[in-house]
Amino acid sequence: MEKLLEVKTLTKVFTMGSILSRVRLTATDNVSFFIKPGEIFTLAGESGCGKTTTAKIILGFEEPTSGAIIHNGKDRAETKGKKVWQEEGIQAIFQDPFGTFNPLRVVDRYFFETLQNFKMAKTKREAIDLIDETLQLVGLTYDEFAGKYPSEFSGGQLQRISIARALLTKPNLLIADEPVSMVDASLRMSIVNLFKRLKEETDLGLLYITHDLATAYYVSERIAIMFRGNIVEMGSVEQVLMSPRHPYTQLLRESIPEADPKKRWSSAITLSELEHEEYMRTGCKFAGRCPHVMEKCKLEMPADVLVDNTLVKCHLYKG
Ligand SMILES: Nc1ncnc2c1ncn2[C@@H]1O[C@H](COP(=O)(O)OP(=O)(O)O)[C@@H](O)[C@H]1O
Ligand SMILES: [Mg+2]
Repeated sequence: MEKLLEVKTLTKVFTMGSILSRVRLTATDNVSFFIKPGEIFTLAGESGCGKTTTAKIILGFEEPTSGAIIHNGKDRAETKGKKVWQEEGIQAIFQDPFGTFNPLRVVDRYFFETLQNFKMAKTKREAIDLIDETLQLVGLTYDEFAGKYPSEFSGGQLQRISIARALLTKPNLLIADEPVSMVDASLRMSIVNLFKRLKEETDLGLLYITHDLATAYYVSERIAIMFRGNIVEMGSVEQVLMSPRHPYTQLLRESIPEADPKKRWSSAITLSELEHEEYMRTGCKFAGRCPHVMEKCKLEMPADVLVDNTLVKCHLYKG
C-alpha cells in the first residue's frame, strides 16, 4: 500500500516554567499514523490534546523531540531546510482565515506572489488563468476576487480563498487545522463538501484536524482520537465513531467540547489545571475522568491493542 505521509513514533516534549519550577509536557507522545493519497484522515480531540503540535511538526514549523515524518517516501530529517515542506507539496490552512491574510493587502497579491515564488507562470495572463482555475475549485472566480481586501469577504468566502491559495501550488497533501471552527455553522458543510469533492476529483490527501466529530464522520475514512498527547483510538470512522471502544471516545461522542475561538494557531501557552494534571499522569492520562478506571490505569500507560482492526489504548482490552 502506497503511503503519502507517514508519522512514526512522533514525540514532542515542551519545557516550560522558570528554572525553579520546570515543567515538561509531552504534547505529542509516540504518535504514529499514515495517510494514503486521495484519503481524508481525521485527527480529533478536545482543545489542548496535541493536534496543532502534530500539524506543526509535519509542516516543519517545529522540530520533533524524536520520531520521523516521511512524506512521498522521503524522511523529513534528510530534507531539512526552509520551506522544504512547501516544495515537497504540503500546504496548510488554519482556523482563522482573517489571520491568514494581512488586512491592509489585497488578497490577490498573495496568489501572484505564490505563483512567482514557485515560478509557475511566465506572464500575468498565465497567472490570472491559473488563479481563476484554482478559485473555480472552491466556487469563486478571479473577477469576484481581484483587487479586494480581506474585509470585503465573509469568513466563509475567505476560508475558501485560503483553501484556493493552498491549492495553487498543486500540493499532494493538505493539512487543515480546525478549518471550520470559526466558520458559521450554515457554511461549514460547504467547506467540508469542498474537501470531499477535492479528494474525489484529485489525488489530494488531507489531514483534517477537528474537534467536530460530525464533520469528521461525514468526510473521512479513518480517524484518530487524541487525548493529552496520545492517540487513544484509531480506525475507520464507522467503527470508531459508531461503536467506540475507548471510554474517552465514548465520552467525546456525547459531549463535543468546543474549541476556544480565541485560541489561535500561535496561542499563548496557558494550561488549565485539569489539562496540566492529566498531562502529568503516569498511567493512562484519562484515568482521572474515566468511568471504568481500575487501579492499574493509574500506574501503567496502556499498550496499543488491536480490537477488530481498531487500535485502542486502554486496559479494558486485551490483544
Ligand atoms: N510552544 C509551546 N510551548 C509549551 N507548550 C506548548 C507549546 N505549544 C503547545 N503547547 C502545549 O501542548 C499541548 C497541546 O497543544 P496543541 O498542540 O496546541 O493542542 P490542540 O491543537 O489539540 O488544541 C497544550 O497543553 C499546549 O498548552
Ligand atoms: Mg489546535
